[in-house]
Amino acid sequence: MNCDVFRDLLARSFAQMARTAEQGSRTVQVPKEPLDQPPLTIHTLGARELRREARRVSKIDEATRDLARDMLRSMYAARGIGLAAPQVGVPKQILVIDLDIDEAATPPLVLINPEITATGASLNTYEEGCLSIPKVYLDVVRPSTIEVNFRDENGRPRRLKADGLLARCIQHEMDHLQGVLFVDRVTDELSLNEGLQQQGFERQHVLSIR
Ligand code: NI
Repeated sequence: MNCDVFRDLLARSFAQMARTAEQGSRTVQVPKEPLDQPPLTIHTLGARELRREARRVSKIDEATRDLARDMLRSMYAARGIGLAAPQVGVPKQILVIDLDIDEAATPPLVLINPEITATGASLNTYEEGCLSIPKVYLDVVRPSTIEVNFRDENGRPRRLKADGLLARCIQHEMDHLQGVLFVDRVTDELSLNEGLQQQGFERQHVLSIR
C-alpha cells in the first residue's frame, strides 16, 4: 500500500468516526445571543399551565432535543439560567439549565425525568427569581446540597451531586414539574405581598405550601 492511499483511508476512517461520534452524542447547544423573537412563550404567574403536574418522558428522541433547544433559545432570550417545560406550556419532565449564559462554549445541562435521591442536612437562604414571575426576587430556604438522577438529552442515565447555585437552580426547576413556584415557598409575607404588587402580580395566585 502506498503512503497516499493509506493517508486517504485514514482520513476517511477519521471522518467516519467523527460522524459516528456526532450521531452518538447529539448536542442541544444553541447560540446564547438573545433572540428578538424567542420560539416559545413563557407563561407567567396566574397561568394554569404553571400549576399542572408534568409527566415523565418515555422516549428521548430528536423531538425531545428540539424542544430542549427551543427552551434554551427562549431562556437565553429572557436572560434566565433555568427553564422547565411546564413554563412553556409543555407538561413534561424536562429542565434546561445554564449557569454560564455569557460564556458561549459552556454546554447547557438538560435534565429529563429528574429525581432527587438525597438532600444534605444543611439549609440555606437565597434570593430567587423566576422567568414566570419577572422582576420579583425573594428569599427562599432550601437544602444546600442535593443528589439527583436524570436522563440527559441523549437518554443516558446521569447522576449529579450539586451544591451552591446549581443545587438551588435544580430544586427551583424541579418544583415547576410539580406545579410549584418559588413564591409558594416564601415565608416573609410582607416582602411577598410587596414584591408581587410592585410587578402587578396577584397574591391570590400564590399557593400556600408552607
Ligand atoms: Ni422558575
